[in-house]
Amino acid sequence: MSEIFSKVSELKEKILSEASQIKDEVSLKAFQEKHMSKKSELSQLMGEIRNLVGEEKNDARNAVTSAFQAKQKEIQEAAIARKLEREKIDITLPSYNYKMGGINPFYLIQDEMIDIFVSMGYEVKEGPDVETDYFNFERMNIPADHPAREMQDSLYINPTTLLRTHTSPEQAHAMDEKGGKPLMMICPGKTYRRDDDDATHSHQFGQVEGLVVGKGITLANLKATLELFVRKMFGEKREVRFRGSYFPFTEPSVEVDISCMNCGGKGCSMCKGTGFIEILGAGMVHPNVLKMSGYDPEVYSGFAFGIGIERVAMLRYGIDDIRKFYQGDVRFIEQFTRK
Ligand code: DAH
Repeated sequence: MSEIFSKVSELKEKILSEASQIKDEVSLKAFQEKHMSKKSELSQLMGEIRNLVGEEKNDARNAVTSAFQAKQKEIQEAAIARKLEREKIDITLPSYNYKMGGINPFYLIQDEMIDIFVSMGYEVKEGPDVETDYFNFERMNIPADHPAREMQDSLYINPTTLLRTHTSPEQAHAMDEKGGKPLMMICPGKTYRRDDDDATHSHQFGQVEGLVVGKGITLANLKATLELFVRKMFGEKREVRFRGSYFPFTEPSVEVDISCMNCGGKGCSMCKGTGFIEILGAGMVHPNVLKMSGYDPEVYSGFAFGIGIERVAMLRYGIDDIRKFYQGDVRFIEQFTRK
C-alpha cells in the first residue's frame, strides 16, 4: 500500500518539477499531453489505487492539475501583457495632416450671385446642359440659316441636340412653365462652346441667366437691377454703363460695363485705359421671343441678362487665367473663402 503511494508521490514530485520548467504554450501543451491524458503514467498508476479511499488518492492528480493550471494562467497572462505592450499607442508620433481643401471660387461667386438675385425676389431655375437646337437657337430668335449662329460655336451631339451654348434657352422653358403669367427668374449653370482654350477662353463656362416678364417693364428696370447687382458684387462705388449692342433675342440689346475697380475709372492696364470693364450682355426681350413663348408683346414686356460667372470671379478676385477654375489645383482653390 505505502509502496504505491510513495511511487505516486515520487512521480508527483517529478511531474511538478517538470511543470516548473514550463515556459511557453508549446511546452505547456507537451506537458498536458504527457501528464494529463488518460494514458499518462500518473493515470495508470492512479488506476491501480482506484479502489482506495481517502484523501491521498487524488492528491497527486490534484497537485498536477493545479500546477498545470497555475502555469497555464501565467502563460496566458504573459501573452496578454505582450499583446498590450505591442498595441500601446505612441502618443509622441506626429498625427496625419488631413487637408480640408476649399470651395472653387466659381461656386463661391455663383452662390453670391444667386443670393443677390434671390434677395430681390427672383426664382432660381435649372435647365438641362444637353439642349435641343429648338430651344438653344430657334426659341431664342435664331433660325437655322441665321448668321447669328456663328456668334456661338456649338458642340452638337446629333443634328438636333447640342450642349447648350448659353443659358438663354432657360428663358423659353421658364415662360412655357409660367403659361403667360408674369415671372422673375434666374438660371445659373454650365454652358459649352467649341473654343480653343486659352487664358480668357474655355470650352466650358458658367452663366447666370436672368429674365423678368411683366406689364410695363422697361430698360430703366433693367438698369436699376444691374446697378444693384454690380454694387453688391463689386462695391458701392461702381458705376454702370450701357453700350448699344446686338443679340438676336433682345431688342434693344446692350452690353454692360462697370467702372474699373483697379483704377476707379481713370484708366489703367486692367481696363486697357478705358476706365470701364465689360461684364455682361442684356436687353429687352425681343417681341418674337415673347410671342413664341405665348406672351402678347403688346401687353407684356421684359428684360433679360446673361452674366459670365468666371468673368465676375476673375474680376472680383483678380484671377488671370480662366483655365485655373478647371485644373483642380488645391493650391489655387484654397486661397478663396466665403465672404
Ligand atoms: N446668351 C448670351 C451669350 O451667351 C448672353 C446674353 C446676352 C443673355 C443678352 C441675355 C441677354 O439674356 O439679354 O452670349
